Amino acid sequence: MSRLPAIAANASPGALATPAVQGLAPYLPGKPVDELERELGIRNIIKLASNENPFGASPKAIAAARDSLASCGTYPDGSGHHLKQKLAALHGVSAPQITLGNGSNDVLVLLAEAFLAPGLEAVYSQYAFAVYPIAVQATGATCRSVAALQSPQPMALGHDLVAMQAAISAQTRLVFVANPNNPTGTYVEPAELLQFVRAVPRHALVVLDEAYFEYSRSIPLQNGIEWLADCPNPGDRQNIRQGLRPGGTPHRLRS
Ligand SMILES: Cc1ncc(COP(=O)(O)O)c(C=O)c1O
Repeated sequence: MSRLPAIAANASPGALATPAVQGLAPYLPGKPVDELERELGIRNIIKLASNENPFGASPKAIAAARDSLASCGTYPDGSGHHLKQKLAALHGVSAPQITLGNGSNDVLVLLAEAFLAPGLEAVYSQYAFAVYPIAVQATGATCRSVAALQSPQPMALGHDLVAMQAAISAQTRLVFVANPNNPTGTYVEPAELLQFVRAVPRHALVVLDEAYFEYSRSIPLQNGIEWLADCPNPGDRQNIRQGLRPGGTPHRLRS
């Protein structure tokens, strides 16, 4: 076993965290709405940067949550058997293809933990979702942030798939593509995305983050689930990642 660094007798618990975790810059969520309303003297703010429902939770979700309280004296079914069956029928996939998480954020972290380690790499675009670098860095893997497209290109600030492909090395295990992306609102055309997915080598998984798929009806977005049956990389067929938010809005991450 290699020698561990000495820990000072008065070290704080934080000093015991791995160097990768100690180097993390925390994710900064926006201010709470009531604080912002007070600060700016305005009302009825809707936070578009957070996945919150300005219409409130669905009454069906509230009723289901209430019903489930009756059985809170026992452990819940951690495998989400019934939920997976319903989601599988809804999306036309099999239940083992689905991984549930506490929000798709949770699934991103699971993916990083499962596929990354020091010495391995993950590729993502410069202005892609802020959690990618945090999830990757926490594992001790290397972040390969690829410069975004520049103005006057129509998808300026968006993913440069050609450059991302070039950034994939023998050490790459995950390639994150947020489609559409948050916070830039950019997206990649289906044909370009398919070409990219086909070109990614078998030792790397494409994590197609479609958290905002349902909100993007006016743009030509590919539904990644349609590609699973016929995906060039067999690993893709085995992995649909589905996170559920407490409000019940499905967020999809597919790899
Ligand atoms: C691109 C993208 N993916 C994933 C997430 C995580 O979403 P949630 O954990 O609310 O499901 C977000 C949240 O803003 C996002 O913008």
